Amino acid sequence: AKVKYISFTGEFVIVDVGVGENLMQAALDNNVSGILGDCGGGCACATCHCIVGEGWGEEIGEPSGHENDLLDGLLERSKRSRLSCQLIMSQDLDGLEVHLPETQF
Ligand code: FES
Repeated sequence: AKVKYISFTGEFVIVDVGVGENLMQAALDNNVSGILGDCGGGCACATCHCIVGEGWGEEIGEPSGHENDLLDGLLERSKRSRLSCQLIMSQDLDGLEVHLPETQF
């Protein structure tokens, strides 16, 4: 299923992400800049922050309590912020767009 990673400058790359894969790992595997993933997906570093495109609320769901706490520490947090290592690809998310914050470039 396809995910569009959009940098803060508006440039983007579309990656084919396997169902069950997380969006942080898929970005690293495909050399997408703007996602660092320092903790390796352990929901501990918040350097995989992304902002989900509009219209994806229901499919994406809400962040867990721990993820939410980490997001609270980010200056660029918005209502649609998530940690990409906690977003697991599913067929329902085909065509998803995520925006990547300037601080991760
Ligand atoms: Fe560290 Fe997502 S990779 S919180």
